[in-house]
Amino acid sequence: MQLGPTGSGPASPLFPAPITVVRMRTALTRGVSPSIGQCELTHLERQPIDFEVALSQHKRYEQVLEDLGCRIERLGEESDFPDSVFVEDIAIVLDELAIITRPGAISRRGERESVERALRPHRRLEHVQAPAILDGGDVLVVGKDIYVGISSRSDSEAVDQVRAIVTDYGYDVGKVNVRGCLHLKSAVTALTEDTLIINPDWVVADHFPGRTCIQVDPSEPNAANVLRVGDTILFAASFPRTGNRLASAGFEVRPVDVSELAKAEGALTCCSLLFDSAAV
Ligand code: GLY
Repeated sequence: MQLGPTGSGPASPLFPAPITVVRMRTALTRGVSPSIGQCELTHLERQPIDFEVALSQHKRYEQVLEDLGCRIERLGEESDFPDSVFVEDIAIVLDELAIITRPGAISRRGERESVERALRPHRRLEHVQAPAILDGGDVLVVGKDIYVGISSRSDSEAVDQVRAIVTDYGYDVGKVNVRGCLHLKSAVTALTEDTLIINPDWVVADHFPGRTCIQVDPSEPNAANVLRVGDTILFAASFPRTGNRLASAGFEVRPVDVSELAKAEGALTCCSLLFDSAAV
């Protein structure tokens, strides 16, 4: 029997049964583009990408997210957009709204339409406006702090626009200078709300006062891009020393092999947009 609002009698047309809203974690992903071999490269030399290996690593990545409780919402692959598997760059998804970015690489701007369509049912949308440029890979959200990397893909004008959009929701937005890598999240990501993992050669820890910064193993400069899903930290399998460092610090860690996607200058966070949404 379904009970009415007082819980004392049956539901009726006047007192319909309450709707149970379950929060679900969604992972928005996109299939690997067949043209990934023509991707943008900024800090890497071009090397051949084995499409089949990239596909299978990406599938495994999605499988791990699913194992950890995410509902995968997968966009169709886009052969016109070589970098489009890296959906993270196209939006910032907060609990209250989502911001569609204006990617720094002109070749990536056409990726926005499909991501925007996918996010519209989940969030109110705002947009970064020209001439500002912003890649989501430069945006690190930790609690109510939003750190934005100033890089070849993201500029100060975008930071000002993001600040204007989110201030009323209680976020603090700060600029962070990045050097030697593509995005801020190549250099630093969050392990918890209090603890970050960082490559100190690419970003200075002073930007994150009040937070503990664990350093990557010096032999693994690209290891700072980890993906937190619930209590689990996914780290790139190519960086076992940093994985061990995190395990020794008490984190529950899980390796994921994204080595073929890394040849396209992508990493773990790049391949998904994670957000909570209502499943009625
Ligand atoms: N290849 C990743 C990017 O440059 O956006």
